[in-house]
Amino acid sequence: MSNPSNSGGGLSHEKVETSNFLMIVLILLVLLFGGMVEIVPLFFQKSTTEPVPGLKPYTALQVAGRDIYVREGCYNCHSQMIRPFRAETLRYGPYSVAGEFVYDHPFQWGSKRTGPDLARVGGKYSDDWHRIHLINPRDVVPESNMPAYAWLEKAPVDGDSLPAHMRGLRQLGAPYTDEEIAKATEDVKGKTELDAVIAYLQGMGIHRK
Ligand code: HEC
Repeated sequence: MSNPSNSGGGLSHEKVETSNFLMIVLILLVLLFGGMVEIVPLFFQKSTTEPVPGLKPYTALQVAGRDIYVREGCYNCHSQMIRPFRAETLRYGPYSVAGEFVYDHPFQWGSKRTGPDLARVGGKYSDDWHRIHLINPRDVVPESNMPAYAWLEKAPVDGDSLPAHMRGLRQLGAPYTDEEIAKATEDVKGKTELDAVIAYLQGMGIHRK
């Protein structure tokens, strides 16, 4: 419908609404602006960029464990993000917040849950429980369909690559000291991949219980 009051020149609504080109360009501009308004502040907002109190960067052994977690594809069945819904917080504990993940590169939030969310699994079981469970899940959870990871017990942790890895993480914001990086290889000497995965699991979500 033409509206005589605004059809005389300028960028009247009629012009926009009758031109595909103008309509598309202006919609894109609005979306771009709206997107920026939502996204850009997240890069500067304290609640998303500052670690929650007590959060520590991963130890050398945990860094190794996290790599094994990614290598073995644990994320294909386990998420690491508790959503802010009652059913979730009753089952898993306090919902996840961005400040818990500032040292996670890349994060392992995920959405596929063949198994339970692991964001707060730290301290839920003993190291021995994890040991038995990872070697053969059916020994502790008879109905489990999680694969067995028995070889982790026999594989030594690759300590030589850790200093470079930790330097990379430092560039991304993890506050490692030179000393911590220098002794990373030594720290994991004699440890198995199973020890490393368990160290990683036991550190999960413990700063917000
Ligand atoms: C094919 C899917 C699948 C894969 C891959 C998988 N899991 Fe699981 N996981 C499960 C299922 C199902 C359960 C629940 C039954 C059980 O406890 O075994 C589970 C349970 C767990 C639990 C206990 C959680 C709790 O709160 O009781 C831990 C810890 C765990 N998995 C760690 C891992 C790790 C570490 C890996 C990779 C090395 C892994 N899972 C790979 C399916 C999987």
